[in-house]
Amino acid sequence: MQLSVRLPIYDPSIFKPPVVSSHTSTPRSSTPDLPSTPQSSRVRITTNESELEGSNKSNTPKASEGELNATWEMWDVIRSICNYDQRLSLTLDLTPPLPSSAGVLKRWAAEPMHSIFLPASTFIANAKGYPVLPKGTQTFIRDIMKYRPTVIVEGANKGVHSRGGETAYLQYVRHLEKTSPALQAMQQPGTVENFAQGYHDYLQAPLQPLMDNLQSATYHTFEQDPVKYRNYEEAIYQALKDWPESDRIVICVAGAGRGPLVARSLKAIGRSKRKAFVYALEKNPNAYVTLQDRLQREWGSKVDLRFGDMRALELPEKVDILVSELLGSFGDNELSPECLDGAMRFLKPEGISIPSSYTAHIAPLSSSKLFQETQAGRDVKTAETPYVVMFQAVNILSGNGGGLAGRCGPQVQECWEFEHPRRDAALDSQGLPLTNSHNTRSAKLTFHIPHAGVLHGLAGYFEAVLYGNVGLSIHPDRKDQISKDMLSWFPILFPFKEPLYLPSNSELQVTMWRLTNKRRVWYEWYAESFLPVWNAPLPEVKTKESHIGPVVNRHGSWLAPAATPVAPPSPVVDAIDLPFPSDRNVETPTRSSEDWPKTDIGLVKIGQTSLHNPGGRSSWIGL
Ligand SMILES: C[S@@+](CC[C@H](N)C(=O)[O-])C[C@H]1O[C@@H](n2cnc3c(N)ncnc32)[C@H](O)[C@@H]1O
Repeated sequence: MQLSVRLPIYDPSIFKPPVVSSHTSTPRSSTPDLPSTPQSSRVRITTNESELEGSNKSNTPKASEGELNATWEMWDVIRSICNYDQRLSLTLDLTPPLPSSAGVLKRWAAEPMHSIFLPASTFIANAKGYPVLPKGTQTFIRDIMKYRPTVIVEGANKGVHSRGGETAYLQYVRHLEKTSPALQAMQQPGTVENFAQGYHDYLQAPLQPLMDNLQSATYHTFEQDPVKYRNYEEAIYQALKDWPESDRIVICVAGAGRGPLVARSLKAIGRSKRKAFVYALEKNPNAYVTLQDRLQREWGSKVDLRFGDMRALELPEKVDILVSELLGSFGDNELSPECLDGAMRFLKPEGISIPSSYTAHIAPLSSSKLFQETQAGRDVKTAETPYVVMFQAVNILSGNGGGLAGRCGPQVQECWEFEHPRRDAALDSQGLPLTNSHNTRSAKLTFHIPHAGVLHGLAGYFEAVLYGNVGLSIHPDRKDQISKDMLSWFPILFPFKEPLYLPSNSELQVTMWRLTNKRRVWYEWYAESFLPVWNAPLPEVKTKESHIGPVVNRHGSWLAPAATPVAPPSPVVDAIDLPFPSDRNVETPTRSSEDWPKTDIGLVKIGQTSLHNPGGRSSWIGL
């Protein structure tokens, strides 16, 4: 049995009466209205049409964040008590006008949207009388068409619109589908969306090219990416051009695979008109066969092939430029730092590494689908293992901007960086690091969560500087400037075993480590949630017999007469105790919450996940 819950998504402000200007207040209302008394004289409900017509749009009170969240909160309760059952899905009812906030609408992308419900009455008539949808609804539907929802049009045969009949609704929905930017991108060859078809929200184990030998088909997939190799060639070309004039420049491609970077190095040498020679190293015997074949047929004496692990091999001479592509979706997760530590012995002191650096980035993510998938194994291992995923039905929960207290970083934040060559590792007599401790990393990052949501995982991305201003990036905001349409890497997901509810305007602190021992590298992560609150100082104490305001008792706690709000609701303000008889003459002036100096914002911790993958118990990368 499948069950789809039909829920309306709407802008609650449409149900609010317009605010009539404050001139209608009585003189007594010069005292600021208290937040706890919304039905003050400034707000009137009217049914008088002329008054309603006269009130302009800006007079309509905006819906509060809590009201905007109401439907989603309802859904969150339903699916949580149903334990994220795969048979439960969502039908979005678009009958009432949609909220205009993109952040509020975006969250539905992370939910199991099965259908959208569109009554004929939601359609408006265009100039010729045919049914069309309001602009905001059009955009929303175009956007969600990538999830292939079933569109249910109700009442198409009721003659609501004068032109087009029943089929006009269908034709219009088809038109929205055809003009959906996401679906158009999927149909265009060469785009990531086109390449990724069939892989959306599909969990894949990250590659381990050091521990495992990659298959020919995997190399073949890599080689489909024109952007990665184009950028590598450009970086090598620029490095050659910048290298001081000399007789012979030595390049080494470390981890050559089936040879595409060797071929690009030779191209860059040709373009730069410099004299150069290439060493190619590879430890995978299957790929090495292809390299030998290409040496014979294509490269001849321009290339010297060496078989083995770059951490143990020797070369007959030092090299000027070390080219490698040992990067994973999180930058360092295929052990590029450790492999390049081993290969740095080949590089001259003034030599160049391409890439010269790479960084790992994360953002908090919500996705019912991915949560269900990582829970499917019903064991801790599948629930705390990183996966490579082309994200689709996800919502990034963080916003840009510092949050209420200005402490939070951007939507996607950098965890750490690796640079090559690095000069700070302690080396043995062969030039190899004594330990791997210099490759451990940690990060503590704070994210602003503008709209309530449920945290299910961390989306991970990388960026690399190849040389100068040439790079590679899958960072959502920068990928298109740095390496548009690059296909080689999908993002990585660090899942959470249990969902963490995050209220609107909360802060999320994520702590993450890259750890290592002699045989393995692994990641550990956990998250904590906080709610910003105003820290209100205690009021000045006055003795005034007649006053009925709040008092401070002998314990320093607040005493308030009934119905007198004395401070903004805040978990950091002491409890309101009943007065002791002896305290009755100690009183403070009445204050509204607006009088409190809002100088200091504190944080109250509201939740935490467990530590994921401690000691690399569920997932690790073999050295
Ligand atoms: C991600 S693939 C890139 C292959 C190729 N350079 C390309 O761009 O298509 C990384 C390659 O490095 C090789 N590799 C990884 N670690 C190595 C090591 N320690 N020594 C030698 N080769 C290594 C792998 O076998 C694999 O062929």
